[in-house]
Amino acid sequence: MTVCEYKPGLEGIPAAQSSISYVDGKQGILEYRGIRIEELATKSTFLETAYLLIWGELPTKEELKAFETEIRYHRRIKYRIQDMMKCFPETGHPMDALQASAAALGLFYSKRALPAPSYIREAVVRLLAKIPTMVAAFKLMRKGNNPVKPNDNLDYSANFLYMLTEQEPDPLESHVFDVCLTLHAEHTINASTFSAMVTASTLTDPYAVIASAVGTLAGPLHGGANEEVISMLEEIGSVENVRPYLEDCLLRKAKIMGFGHRVYKVKDPRATILQNLAEQLFDKFGSDKYYEIALELEQAVEEKLGYKGIYANVDFYSGLVYRKLGIPTDLFTPIFAIARVAGWLAHWNEQLGENRIFRPTQIYTGDHNVAYVPIQERT
Ligand code: CMC
Repeated sequence: MTVCEYKPGLEGIPAAQSSISYVDGKQGILEYRGIRIEELATKSTFLETAYLLIWGELPTKEELKAFETEIRYHRRIKYRIQDMMKCFPETGHPMDALQASAAALGLFYSKRALPAPSYIREAVVRLLAKIPTMVAAFKLMRKGNNPVKPNDNLDYSANFLYMLTEQEPDPLESHVFDVCLTLHAEHTINASTFSAMVTASTLTDPYAVIASAVGTLAGPLHGGANEEVISMLEEIGSVENVRPYLEDCLLRKAKIMGFGHRVYKVKDPRATILQNLAEQLFDKFGSDKYYEIALELEQAVEEKLGYKGIYANVDFYSGLVYRKLGIPTDLFTPIFAIARVAGWLAHWNEQLGENRIFRPTQIYTGDHNVAYVPIQERT
């Protein structure tokens, strides 16, 4: 066997062959199943995009209708899962609540074996349908309120905002939210997708696959960055303070949240679309002072760090969009998870197609033949 050079973080090492998505980090191109993200963001919906990602082709009108109807039918969560969620501490992070709730679905619908296509379809529908309900339920239950039941008259995104805010959203709000889900649905083999693939390769159930990916997404270097972007903009506080703040970060070698990407060395195409969506919301519902700060920061970072290929990533503007939609900051990452479930499921399905359990190697750097020292002789 050829021994490859060790690369921390597996940077640049192919871990799989996949036809789900493609990124050209130099040109700022993202495609799902060959279709440019800009096209999907303007012409598709999240559920249609999820179908495309998971089954490889755009659905026909009838296929899409059947898929949407099945998902609508499965939105409710069992009382026993709600009862379990009621016991979660109200101070707990919603990502931890989501990870535990996603894993709990496995208690009801688990199957550990190479699954039949009908089981794959059921799991896809259940997860896409129930994850948003669980995110919205925890938001209300942690304040001691009862969760809002899904509204069968509303589509996927409008229903989520309704369950979250307890009122029917404006059509622009649900459209913008739906585009956000499409933008976050898939992004090649990032950390959480890799985690999903590794878990999937053991042939455990899809609920364990998603729970493991949710846990990985929760970290601040991955999905958690958009929360940190808002804290950073609040800390900066004014347009005048942007450049002094940036200088201070550079001196301390601190990372600027919402900038930089392992793959993109230009502005992330999703950041450009999100910025446009934010502007649509500000035009209709009033501006946000943090947007001015964000624009100045983007300019300043580009001047100082552009030569290193550090530009705005997807998380830089998504937080501003979610704030305008009335979504609490600590739900930003769970919303990323609602969207990314589509990509994780696509990789689960692909992994099952030609499965081989992941078992990489390591370079051992420890000692050998070390003598065991009895405890009373240790100093
Ligand atoms: N601010 C300042 N400098 C940065 C930043 C940043 N946000 N990102 C990278 N750099 C610098 C870094 O200091 C290093 O400089 P040098 O070569 O002089 O030591 C160089 O760029 C390479 O950085 P790295 O950390 O080795 O790059 P990476 O590919 O390992 O990290 C990253 C990618 C996303 C973890 C990193 O850019 C980062 O921590 N960004 C801030 C957090 C963030 O916004 N995360 C969301 C990522 S996008 C969503 C997703 O795909 O999950």
